[in-house]
Amino acid sequence: MNIDTLKPLYNIEAVRKIEYYSETDSTNQRAKEDIRNIEKNEESENGSLELPCLYIADIQTAGRGRMGRPWKSDSGEGIWMSYSFRPKLAPDKIPGITLLASIAVARGISEYIKNKEPSFNVGEIKIKWPNDLVIGTKKVCGILTELVSSDDSYSVICGIGVNVNTPSFPGELQDKATSLLIETGKVCSRETLIYLIIRKLSELIEEYEISESLDFILEEYNSLLISMNKEVIIIDNSITNNNSTKKQSDYLNTFISRGINNTGALLIEDSSGNISSVSSGEVSVRGIYGYV
Ligand code: BTN
Repeated sequence: MNIDTLKPLYNIEAVRKIEYYSETDSTNQRAKEDIRNIEKNEESENGSLELPCLYIADIQTAGRGRMGRPWKSDSGEGIWMSYSFRPKLAPDKIPGITLLASIAVARGISEYIKNKEPSFNVGEIKIKWPNDLVIGTKKVCGILTELVSSDDSYSVICGIGVNVNTPSFPGELQDKATSLLIETGKVCSRETLIYLIIRKLSELIEEYEISESLDFILEEYNSLLISMNKEVIIIDNSITNNNSTKKQSDYLNTFISRGINNTGALLIEDSSGNISSVSSGEVSVRGIYGYV
């Protein structure tokens, strides 16, 4: 990967450090360890703060997804990166960042493809709440946001995985995952995509820090939301906990998805027309016919 393409990110102050690995365990893990080291150095009063920082790997040997799932990233064909920063936001605003990341990726990919492959309909790129990007019924990007807190500060790590130039997926993954190469038929520049995504993400974070609300992306997010005004199944994540006395069947209720509110929660309408909101830590959402 030609990291020089990313140098303009320093000029716009989107990053203060870029770490590139041809192979590492997980870029989120690299980011986490660096933050812990920075904190130690600060305690001894000779540390230098280098956030925001961008970690990029060609290959991850232990890529991680949400809910402790593994994330396949053992080839140099995708974007496996983590963006770490100290947001000027109250902790209750942090879940919103993950939604901003999905907007940044959607905008970045759309801008890139519009220039390189105008015949591809970028309207097909959608968000599955809270932050998966899908094309058709298959996932093209996943985002894992983690919070690293200490006594008096906290940092956020936004881990982004995009399937870019993967020619095909093995086994059952081929029904669930897709790549930009598969969809557009064109090899895409990972460097240019990273540049576009991180520039947009840093701009969105700045706007969020000023407004402290997701109002400014609400319309765009809901227009990209694949489940908007469609029937969805809500799955309570606590039923995966073995100690739970709840029955899975109690939670497989169908609702109509009515989009997100300005905190990033999903609004769902039951059969009597009552609307409630659910947060991404508590529940997962499935379409009535499968993943989306
Ligand atoms: C998901 O959809 O479950 C989230 C996937 C997040 C994958 C990215 S790849 C870069 C970063 N490093 C990791 O180990 N995970 C994230």
